[in-house]
Amino acid sequence: MKTRITELFGIQHPIIQGGMHFVGLAELAAAVSSAGGLGIITGLTQKTPELLANEIRRCREMTDQPFGVNLTFLPTVNSPDYPGYIQAIIDGGVKVVETAGNNPQKWLPALHAAGIKVIHKCTSVRHALKAEAIGCDAISVDGFECGGHPGEDDVPNFILLPRAADELKIPFVASGGMADGRSLVAALALGAEGINMGTRFMATQEAPVHDNVKAAIVAATELDTRLVMRPLRNTERVLRNAAVDRLLEKERSLGAAIKFEDIIDEVAGVYPKIMQQGTMDAGAWSCGMVAGLIHDVPTVRQLIERIMGEAHHIIGQRLARFEAA
Ligand SMILES: Cc1cc2nc3c(=O)[nH]c(=O)nc-3n(C[C@H](O)[C@H](O)[C@H](O)COP(=O)(O)O)c2cc1C
Repeated sequence: MKTRITELFGIQHPIIQGGMHFVGLAELAAAVSSAGGLGIITGLTQKTPELLANEIRRCREMTDQPFGVNLTFLPTVNSPDYPGYIQAIIDGGVKVVETAGNNPQKWLPALHAAGIKVIHKCTSVRHALKAEAIGCDAISVDGFECGGHPGEDDVPNFILLPRAADELKIPFVASGGMADGRSLVAALALGAEGINMGTRFMATQEAPVHDNVKAAIVAATELDTRLVMRPLRNTERVLRNAAVDRLLEKERSLGAAIKFEDIIDEVAGVYPKIMQQGTMDAGAWSCGMVAGLIHDVPTVRQLIERIMGEAHHIIGQRLARFEAA
């Protein structure tokens, strides 16, 4: 399947694996890229630029296909060493960067000078237009359904994607709630040129996370996520668990007076405990509503081939039938 996204990134299938903290390691990125999609290493999971350089090297040893690196620009005071990470990406010969969070404008000249394409993740049309105006090459349009940070506008993809299609000139992928061939065809129908998936890729054989994480996703339904940190305007969609219930109770009782320090136990430093040790109640971890559509733990290749097979079947059979009638 050829789209503006497959052409832009030189990939076979219009399927991207979004950056995921403590999930997007070389193993997963390489598996996705080798299966014809675009795998993405999560930059900030590597504590230093040197470690990121090493992760890029490991990924290159595992696949000869293009892969990307996610750089999330956090609204924190003590900023990570972004110039160092950018240099590691350039020196590592990576050709795609997925940016997220704050405006990436400052970093675009260095990335573009190195021949790197930038896809920026946005949760609103206004941010997507801004990203286009500053010179990003593509957008990942992240709807309200998504796992992770859906922003504060709460517009689901059935509205957000056609709105983006009406306004954007650069290509975009649909992110949030994507799981199968139906998602891909719907995304294409709404104007996207491919899909970006997070939660679905976490429940694959190659995802380097504890089996408890994969089992929790398979067991969850579309009713089991919650939005946390809304009072801090840093909303995150997470899977409900004991820590999340505790966090939400704090949000209720503290109201507008709540500060980040009040919920530090539930959100800070919890990812290694969950993703690596499988301590599922250790804190709040990102998960999309799409968990309701995830019922198995296939290999990445099986998943991608299944999505493409379903998509071709829907386009060529189901949709063609309506045309003929
Ligand atoms: C466990 C987890 C961790 C994530 N970490 C990041 C991150 O560090 N940076 C980022 O830009 N997006 C992050 N995301 C968001 C994904 O890249 C992707 O946009 C999102 O999962 C899409 O929604 P879906 O889960 O419904 O597929 C994370 C998502 C999950 C599920």
